Amino acid sequence: MSAKSDIWSRLQNLSQNVPSLNQLFAQDKDRAERMVYEVGGLYVDFSKQRLTPEINTALLALLEASDFEELRHKFLSGEAINTTENRAVLHPTLRGSGGTAYVQKQVADMRAHTREFCDHIRAQGKYKTIIHIGIGGSDLGPRLCADALVAYTQPAIEIRFVENIDAASIKDALAGLDPKTTLVISVSKSFTTQETKMNTMAAKDWLGQYASINMIAVTANRTGAEEFGIDPLRIFDFWDWVSGRYSLWSSVSLCLQIAYGPDIFDALLAGAHEMDEHFKSASVENNLPVMLAVTSIWNTNFLGYGSQAIIPYARRLRKFPSFLQQLEMESNGKSVTREGRAAGITCPILWGGEGTNSQHAFFQHLHQGHQGAPVDFIAVLEDAENRPTHHAALLANCFAQSEALMVGKSEEIVRAELDKAGMGSDDIAALVPHKTFAGNRPSTTILLDKLDARALGNLIALYEHKVFVQSVIWDINAFDQWGVELGKVLAGKILSELESGGDILTHDSSTQKLISLARKSIKL
Ligand code: F6P
Repeated sequence: MSAKSDIWSRLQNLSQNVPSLNQLFAQDKDRAERMVYEVGGLYVDFSKQRLTPEINTALLALLEASDFEELRHKFLSGEAINTTENRAVLHPTLRGSGGTAYVQKQVADMRAHTREFCDHIRAQGKYKTIIHIGIGGSDLGPRLCADALVAYTQPAIEIRFVENIDAASIKDALAGLDPKTTLVISVSKSFTTQETKMNTMAAKDWLGQYASINMIAVTANRTGAEEFGIDPLRIFDFWDWVSGRYSLWSSVSLCLQIAYGPDIFDALLAGAHEMDEHFKSASVENNLPVMLAVTSIWNTNFLGYGSQAIIPYARRLRKFPSFLQQLEMESNGKSVTREGRAAGITCPILWGGEGTNSQHAFFQHLHQGHQGAPVDFIAVLEDAENRPTHHAALLANCFAQSEALMVGKSEEIVRAELDKAGMGSDDIAALVPHKTFAGNRPSTTILLDKLDARALGNLIALYEHKVFVQSVIWDINAFDQWGVELGKVLAGKILSELESGGDILTHDSSTQKLISLARKSIKL
């Protein structure tokens, strides 16, 4: 048996006999001190995870047996670790971490170019709105940051996002705007994405005579954008060594740089760089992304949780769960190893929503449902809204939920409460099972000191590196996404069948019927 499978078996054995969280806290007075990590503007508390020092040690041994040090070095030094596409993965270089001198120069030149352009647009004062068109990695990062940065900086220009191929997306975004004062930025790494091309075409038509000036493209496929009719001087490049879901650090975020200013964007990059430095140099036991990753491995592969909830108790981070869905599930939703053999269980399903709203929606399931799910609670200490009463209530709710998930409520306590309220014994017996909470449900709490660009950069880079570490243990390539291709190809085929009106022959009978029904309602 290899070292890795020995350690795996050891962890499986350990998982059969983990003391409850209540026991762990009772046994170790220093637990909350010991299991906290502070990096940059983040404070992260793992003490409510079902971990013991012995489990931690075994998880770190598992990481070591997965060649972590070597793979981290390959990643940060720019080796082609995305083997199925033969590409390096250099998003950290976009924020000043690692990469070759040649790539660093490309990045610096592009930063200087975008800064100059942004300063010019901001000084011009001509545009009132930016329409950012893009989907997936060309949408979710800038969208998350645009929302979050509002905590401290009002954008100089309103940004509206268009992503879906549903025409309602572009219709809503353009509503009430004047083409003369609207800047359209079309963002697509490939410049072949159906949604983005269709929406860009619609925006181009809408801009009319202003299209040649008011239209910009951001892409790694300059030729594609030029063929589309975008002025070559209005095309901003990025590179094939940036995966879409890691691209927010590039000119993909041009809208942020214009609306919030290049300095704020630099602060975001600096925050991410701070996490890169920590990830690169901290020992594994003190390394925050490593800890976040191995905790998730423990919950997924050994405690058997199939999903992970992300609950930001911060309205301005409400887009974070959907950002992470792409980051984690498109990266690690894989079932073969780097060598192409069957992999074990990999990425859990990520889901979530904003607190406190979600307490009134799905928290019942988290507290008393069968499966449960580990939760990452994310909150911000500083009250950016200057409403102390609201802010105290927000934090109180966040902390109460993690406490309730952990401590639960025993039968004895429920019984005593009902008895004290004067309820008869038959009624008490009937109600006790319903009012009892098992507890022992794990969570991590992440606190940002304030929701500024630096802490936001810290937070996003933390999860990016978590994804990498997990991929190392699962032995999968986190940087390709072949699984999205089949649906795209079939959609193209069905679209031409919907458009042509000819025979529909090569589908299963269900799909064939759906196409016939749709044909009746589509008037092209
Ligand atoms: O469909 C998945 C995907 O390829 C993502 O990986 C990517 O972020 C998104 O589509 C958009 O791609 P592009 O930037 O090339 O338009």
